[in-house]
Amino acid sequence: MTIYEVGPRDGLQNESAVVPVEVKREFVARLAEAGLTTIETTSFVHPKWVPQLADAGELLESLPRVPGVRYPVLVPNEKGLDRALEGNVTDIAIFGSATESFARRNLNRTVESQFEMFAPVVERALAHSLRVRAYVSMCFADPWEGPVAPAQVARVGRRLLDLGCHELSLGDTIGVGTPRHVEDLLDAFAEAGVGPERLAVHFHDTYGQALANTLTALRRGITVVDSSAGGIGGCPYAKSATGNLATEDLVWMLDGLGVETGVDVRSLAATSLWLAGILGRPSPSRVVQALAKEI
Ligand code: HMG
Ligand code: MG
Repeated sequence: MTIYEVGPRDGLQNESAVVPVEVKREFVARLAEAGLTTIETTSFVHPKWVPQLADAGELLESLPRVPGVRYPVLVPNEKGLDRALEGNVTDIAIFGSATESFARRNLNRTVESQFEMFAPVVERALAHSLRVRAYVSMCFADPWEGPVAPAQVARVGRRLLDLGCHELSLGDTIGVGTPRHVEDLLDAFAEAGVGPERLAVHFHDTYGQALANTLTALRRGITVVDSSAGGIGGCPYAKSATGNLATEDLVWMLDGLGVETGVDVRSLAATSLWLAGILGRPSPSRVVQALAKEI
């Protein structure tokens, strides 16, 4: 099982206040101390589009790197890749959309033209020996278009993988999916020739289904799960999106199932409580709330 932590990127991109770079640095360092080994740190997107992460270069430059820990970053285009390469990245992630409405709003592209934007990014990243992950967003429904057909998601996802990405993360960007939807989506990917060994899941928890959806995915052979410490997160270009599955909730479940993660849930919850104090609002994670009484 690999936990792919997205708190510093997906979480902090959605904060109304810009979090100082020193706080981000400490947040990432504490996540690594708690035992997380993949920490999506920031995004090299247009700083006007996501001002919260405009300090991406500065953050990466000054980040204390722990051996064995990977620090992937989001990169949408070649300009973003140029900036990321200056920061000595080893892992990047491109992020596509299954729907036209979100492609337009999040990337200023059509579904078709997003591939033209990503193709040279992946090609150049692979030439630099970087690992490239892909996301596909709006896997179950889209706020403007309603339900999204699993076959449509599988078509877009397959094309993103075929660019040369090692893994595809399935994003329930607005957190509306249920276990049945997860089953249907994984069936559609299997039909498109993509098995669980190339997939990760990325559930936002808007309707409280993220943990159930994750368990469904694990039972179908998925071994990479995205989550954010304290359950922070969302997408500034999809207003109905709330936080991701909380990493503490995931670790609590996996500990109970006897699945080894190497993550210390109490240390992680202490970090989320510290960050909640800085952000000025409580963590939505039930596990963080429960552990707060004993930390
Ligand atoms: P655009 O306006 O179409 O960009 O934005 P452009 O290519 O036309 O370039 C316009 C200007 O922007 C140029 O400058 C470029 O140099 C500059 P000018 O020549 O006019 O002076 N520019 C950049 N500057 C810095 N860094 C860059 C960059 N790119 C262009 N990377 C773009 C297209 C993709 C850049 C924009 O739409 C963008 O930044 N979008 C990112 C939105 C975002 O970050 N959304 C949140 C992440 S996705 C998410 O949260 C979902 C996920 O969690 C999964 C899930 O939950 O489903 C991953
Ligand atoms: Mg997300």
